[in-house]
Amino acid sequence: MKQKEILLFGATGQIGRNLIRKLSKNNYKIIAVTRNIHRAGYILKTQANPGYLELVELKNFDVNKIESLIKRTTICINLIGILYEKRKDEFKLIHSDLPALLAKKANQFKLDKFIHLSALGIENATDSKYALSKLDGERRIKENFQRYIILKPSIVYSVDDKFSTKFMSLLSVLPVMPLYYNGRTKFSPIHVSDLVNIIYNIIESKNESLVLECVGLEIITFKEMLIKLLKSINKKRILLPLPTPLAKITAKFFQLLPNPLLTEDQLIMLKYDNCKSKYYKSNLDMGYIPKKKFENEINKYSYNWRTGGQFADENNSTNLK
Ligand SMILES: NC(=O)c1ccc[n+]([C@@H]2O[C@H](COP(=O)([O-])OP(=O)(O)OC[C@H]3O[C@@H](n4cnc5c(N)ncnc54)[C@H](OP(=O)(O)O)[C@@H]3O)[C@@H](O)[C@H]2O)c1
Repeated sequence: MKQKEILLFGATGQIGRNLIRKLSKNNYKIIAVTRNIHRAGYILKTQANPGYLELVELKNFDVNKIESLIKRTTICINLIGILYEKRKDEFKLIHSDLPALLAKKANQFKLDKFIHLSALGIENATDSKYALSKLDGERRIKENFQRYIILKPSIVYSVDDKFSTKFMSLLSVLPVMPLYYNGRTKFSPIHVSDLVNIIYNIIESKNESLVLECVGLEIITFKEMLIKLLKSINKKRILLPLPTPLAKITAKFFQLLPNPLLTEDQLIMLKYDNCKSKYYKSNLDMGYIPKKKFENEINKYSYNWRTGGQFADENNSTNLK
């Protein structure tokens, strides 16, 4: 069978790594773009024979190189995103300037599809730099290319994530966990395999000019999520509501760390619910129904944070008597 080709930016992230496995299993050849080809070679796994994955190194968004890659393909997917800025205007560069350039090139070389990952819950967050940059990216894609698909996921979780695993690490060492905004913010977490199935369906479909919110089966508050994580790692901790002015001061300090636990902008984003909105259709409306539930899935990897590890509850000596 003839291979189909896909150009993938941001391939080494949580979503990219899982998407590559799904696509390669289904006869797609992936041209995976990364800033560090050696690290990517170590991280990325396919489920196909050799030849289904081509790694390409791209530094500083070299426009000529981007153009030569886009010329070769019919479908381009952009998964590049950041959670905090390491330098001035980085949100604008990554979430707005880059998607705008990719959309322009997609138009110039008449691609069939440009699929871009934006974020959920950003429409009302006009006081967040992250949200504004993601929204600006969406606007500029629409201006530059008609056959766009913009996907807006809620929190994406899996053993590879920077969310459930980060909180399990914090909860396993901290005696007290701060609750921002009383832990009332709502999320609709989606498992990475459910999101990858949505992306795969979108690739195979004839949809275009589509903005789609991507949500899981449940709506869970921040506090409920922490309680589920605690239950899963079998630990008891104090969940302490933190007044917002105090939370802002802690975020100011946290964001000085090289890999910040929380930035002031992330604290702002935490104020806004992160579930299906009134603005766009969601995967549920399109019949892309997720299969995974938060509690069931985190239980499959939370043993990494449980005292004694995976086999702590088993009596290993039983069979040796
Ligand atoms: N994960 C979630 O919960 C979630 C929720 C909503 C929206 N999204 C969006 O979905 C997309 C993919 O998410 P993800 O979790 O898979 O992302 P991720 O793991 O954080 O990162 C994706 C990739 O982007 C590249 N990248 C990061 N910073 C970069 C920079 N400064 N310059 C160039 N490339 C850079 C990296 O690839 P290399 O190091 O190989 O270059 C990285 O592996 C993002 O746009 C994200 O905003 C994610």
